Amino acid sequence: MLYHIATYGCQMNEYDSGVLATMMESEGCVATDDPSAADFILVNTCSVRQKAEDTALARISKFKPFKRANPNLKIVLAGCMAKNHGESLIQKMPLIDYVIGPDHYRKIPDILFGNPVHASRKNSAARTMVEFDSLEMYKDASAKLASPFSTYVAIQRGCNKHCSYCIVPHVRGPEKYREEAGVLREVREAAERGVREITLLGQTVNAYRSGDTSFAKLLEQVSLVPGIERIRFTSPHPRHYTPELIDVLLGNPKVCAHAHIPLQSGSNVMLKKMRRQHQIDDFLRITEKLRGANPLYGLTTDIICGFVGETESDFEQTLEVVREVQFDSAFMFIYSPREGTESAREPETLSEEEKKERHRRLVDLQNEITLARNRMMIGNTECILVERPSTRNPEEWVGKTGNFKKVIFRPAGSVSPGAWANIHIDDIRGWTLRGTPAEE
Ligand code: SAH
Ligand code: SF4
Ligand code: F3S
Repeated sequence: MLYHIATYGCQMNEYDSGVLATMMESEGCVATDDPSAADFILVNTCSVRQKAEDTALARISKFKPFKRANPNLKIVLAGCMAKNHGESLIQKMPLIDYVIGPDHYRKIPDILFGNPVHASRKNSAARTMVEFDSLEMYKDASAKLASPFSTYVAIQRGCNKHCSYCIVPHVRGPEKYREEAGVLREVREAAERGVREITLLGQTVNAYRSGDTSFAKLLEQVSLVPGIERIRFTSPHPRHYTPELIDVLLGNPKVCAHAHIPLQSGSNVMLKKMRRQHQIDDFLRITEKLRGANPLYGLTTDIICGFVGETESDFEQTLEVVREVQFDSAFMFIYSPREGTESAREPETLSEEEKKERHRRLVDLQNEITLARNRMMIGNTECILVERPSTRNPEEWVGKTGNFKKVIFRPAGSVSPGAWANIHIDDIRGWTLRGTPAEE
């Protein structure tokens, strides 16, 4: 039987989809990229912004003809939207067979393969499972590898931060950490299968703790796993950059020189209102330490513009911090009120047009900075983890530097995904670095 998984949202959703894929395959199912050929379609959804929800529902509505062609096709809406809207999703879109929240995705194979307890569920309430389950903590989980040489390993579920704009704690529940032994087992198994790069995942990943093991210690442990040569993580929270962690980030050569640290706003007033638990000075202390040690340290971020109450001066402070830090790149979002969150109770103070205008100004500034930061790489020789042939020109290949920059290069001889290549950065086209093999 063929299954198709469409994943929206963050890497944590990617990881959950990977765990589900492993389970489906252990039942003898085979993955397909073509939803029209599938017997099961699983849509793993995100609720973080309205657009994420609209996109997933629009996608599901396209599956209607497949259901007519194959009456046995089962469609499962899983993940954060399931928790956010529950049974109402089936009523809104009767082609959805099951609505399965983030803590129940591991029951999906059981549901699909006709375990009589689940298969007999007729009414929409019985086909909805969304309550939190404190026991779901990735015990024994092994996600299907994201690629043969690089994959994700989740170490945390949920979030305790309750940023006032954010739906994540509402849909993912309270923070829980995976046991160190389970994390290391999955990393070891991935390494034995050829994986060289691991990305550890959690909503506040650097808050990790398991017994006496801090996040810094976990990074050290992962770096000792034979075969693992690059370690990345996302997303850290500024509040949890301990001196011990900074030492490991700067001292352990396997931990990549890149951090994705969400700033959200450059205004202390907005940060307080967002309940971010950090102020601008805290943020800058971290970025200054990392860039002070290595001016090419990769720094990326998330920024929300047009939050409730954001004045022109607050927004200009965001631009100021963006100029000061010089992020390598940024995800920049327009504030989207999420029902049930604290800030959604306050009426918005900016029109859609005003929010968009600020977003445009921010994007323009960041584009200039991204270009300048990428230019700084020209003339360097970088160790690249090779990913794939370029889509435009199959004679060129794509890979990433340690500081998370994409490089397009023409290899000297044959090259394969997962190989290392020493590449001299010659030039930049658009925003992208171009290189050629370095002289030996
Ligand atoms: N746990 C991570 C981020 C998770 S959500 C962290 O705390 O940094 C990813 C990003 O989506 C956030 O960093 C934020 O910039 C953005 N985001 C979250 N809620 C949003 C909302 N209601 N409107 C717009 N952007 C939002
Ligand atoms: Fe959302 Fe804040 Fe938690 Fe990140 S830390 S997931 S932004 S509540
Ligand atoms: Fe979205 Fe859920 Fe991740 S809301 S950002 S998929 S935790």
